[in-house]
Amino acid sequence: MSAYPHAVAQGWHPIAAVKQLGANPLARSLMGTPVVVFKGAGGPAVLVDRCPHRNMALSRGAVHSGEIECPYHGWRFASDGRCTLTPGASEPARFGAQTLPVAVRAGLVWTTLAKSPNTEPFLPPPLTTEGLDTFMWPVKPSRARLIDAVENLLDPAHPHFLHAGIVRAKNLRKPVDVTVRVHPTFAEAIYIENAKASALMPRMLEGLRVASIGRFFPPSTGQVAFEGKDGLKLAITVFFTPESENVVRPFAHFATPKGVAPAFVKEALLRAFHIPVLAQDREALRKQTDDIENFGAPKYALGPLDFLFPAINALAAGETPEPSERTARVEL
Ligand code: FES
Ligand SMILES: [Fe+2]
Repeated sequence: MSAYPHAVAQGWHPIAAVKQLGANPLARSLMGTPVVVFKGAGGPAVLVDRCPHRNMALSRGAVHSGEIECPYHGWRFASDGRCTLTPGASEPARFGAQTLPVAVRAGLVWTTLAKSPNTEPFLPPPLTTEGLDTFMWPVKPSRARLIDAVENLLDPAHPHFLHAGIVRAKNLRKPVDVTVRVHPTFAEAIYIENAKASALMPRMLEGLRVASIGRFFPPSTGQVAFEGKDGLKLAITVFFTPESENVVRPFAHFATPKGVAPAFVKEALLRAFHIPVLAQDREALRKQTDDIENFGAPKYALGPLDFLFPAINALAAGETPEPSERTARVEL
């Protein structure tokens, strides 16, 4: 049985940002399979990272005119996996490298391990919305289980402790009405706050926060959005790519409405704010993963603020949940 939930195992995942692709091939991993991504003749190409000859990783080689050259005996492979050159022989070998499907969306190179992928990568709004200031932040991999990393982004209960004073003040909770909506294709928790953020940085960035919203889209995309009186203030959409059972590579997309501040100023501020937050989350996820490993497997209790956890698991498993809605009042 696959160690990955069904929709994750069958899903498309980003493995690199297009702008990360340079002259050299990039070694990546998707659910335990080493893959190589490089600039092919017709655009980004993705191959299983194994030379068919003696199994050297192709990512150790070099790219020449859109073809990847194995460093061991110099066989070259085109984007379609075909061997185009076998040095010393008049004809190229008839053994090709294994290709994987490629899609380029939102500035990212996506692939899938599904045998017959029938869908394209799914981009939730606001990635499909025109007229916003956006930037894509490829984050370095974290030691974390996929679902734990997704939940970490969407979990409203940890910032008071893990990011005390940065994201939420530790001892300044306010009542918040929560609506949890599960749809057949995604789930969301809407927190009506109607208050200024309790911590300094979001206060400066946002002003009055009417609502914060956490959303999950299968296979493994999380989104947090903050809304003010006039609608969206900031949406952070994170595509979590499972490199292996305990390593996740996130790609974070930030969107803000155009306004007085130029896009590059907002990007600099958002990055400066999130660097310490990300470091704290990485550290917590690493410890959590170590601690789970000491017991062999997770055994989780469902807490009263774990609003999205059941839906995340159901949707990632490829289920189509019955639509439902419930409300709660908590303090955040
Ligand atoms: S191992 Fe790649 S060419 Fe021989
Ligand atoms: Fe966090």
